[in-house]
Amino acid sequence: MPCSFIGAEMILAIITFLMMFITGSHTVDFCYDESHCDPYAWGDAFPSCHPILEEHHSPINLDHHMTRNESLEALHLDGFHAVHTGHWKLKNNGHSVVLEVGNGMSVSGGGLPGTYHTVQLHFHWGSLNTNGSEHTVDRHRYPMEMHIVNMKSSHPNLTSALDDPTGLAVLAFFIDLYYIENVHFGRISRLLPSIAYKGQTATVKPFPLIGLLPESHLSQYYRYHGSLTTPPCSQAVIWTMYEVPTYISWSQFEQFVTGIFSTEEDEEFVAHLHDNFRHIHPTFSRSVYASKDAKLLTATANHLYSPALSIFLLQLTLTVGIIYGL
Ligand SMILES: *[C@@H]1O[C@H](CO)[C@@H](O)[C@H](O)[C@H]1NC(C)=O
Ligand SMILES: *[C@@H]1O[C@H](CO)[C@@H](O)[C@H](O)[C@H]1NC(C)=O
Ligand SMILES: *[C@@H]1O[C@H](CO)[C@@H](O)[C@H](O)[C@H]1NC(C)=O
Ligand SMILES: [Zn+2]
Repeated sequence: MPCSFIGAEMILAIITFLMMFITGSHTVDFCYDESHCDPYAWGDAFPSCHPILEEHHSPINLDHHMTRNESLEALHLDGFHAVHTGHWKLKNNGHSVVLEVGNGMSVSGGGLPGTYHTVQLHFHWGSLNTNGSEHTVDRHRYPMEMHIVNMKSSHPNLTSALDDPTGLAVLAFFIDLYYIENVHFGRISRLLPSIAYKGQTATVKPFPLIGLLPESHLSQYYRYHGSLTTPPCSQAVIWTMYEVPTYISWSQFEQFVTGIFSTEEDEEFVAHLHDNFRHIHPTFSRSVYASKDAKLLTATANHLYSPALSIFLLQLTLTVGIIYGL
């Protein structure tokens, strides 16, 4: 083989290597657990994540500094009670567990400037000994938080929605823990083992999303304008923070905390995905509005909805029913 040919081959190999190196260094990713890519460092790779004075970032702490707005009634959750056809996709994207819900659902009303199509929902969680909600209530963090992401229907794509200060409407629900399984969440949690690693997906049979929500308390919420809580941290979100948490069981929670990894299946280094929440940001000049029916944090949400109490009442009813032969 002539030397010149070997030389060409080597040059090609070097170029390929350099290309891989250059491309690799351009695919910036973010993380929650290492100081070079954690939420405090996101601004290095994503300038709009820099919390500059007077900018409106999320999450925030919810406290008693709120303004009641009597015109904020329950949102219209269109298609949330229906069983849709087709398939939904559950995905581990290395930062969260995401349920992509396809078409057929939208939210409007409750002061939103238009109709917003439901795109996906995802979760933020802590670990076995830390609570992991993104927003806090009187500095209290809940074990988990669920975000239902909706895009204003006048936008053709996410890029254009992120350029609009009211491009997205996110419905946020705190998740508390209880010893009884939530069967509706079971549709998601039982698939977690098949999406343990980053990049893995599973098919979900559509189910009524309303089952995941605290249905009888949906008129109690807080409203403020903020940002995405993940890069690129665009200030494009109308947040609706529901006052009453929904719940899952301890063992369902444990599946998120111990069974989901931020690394790919074939990676040598294995890292659990947990504590995937961004730090609290100041409200600055922003107002936080309380809906007409919100209780304004009086009982710190916790005690407003007690699954234990409902079950106690159910048992009491059954017992009384049996005693009286009903
Ligand atoms: C109350 O909410 C409505 C609907 O979003 C809005 O038009 C109105 O300006 C709000 N009032 C105040 C005092 O912010
Ligand atoms: C974590 O959440 C649980 C359940 O809501 C609560 O009892 C506990 O006080 C929270 N812990 C912290 C440190 O916020
Ligand atoms: C998104 O929509 C905008 C506005 O119509 C358009 O200019 C842009 O090319 C679209 N971007 C993508 C990635 O489709
Ligand atoms: Zn989120």
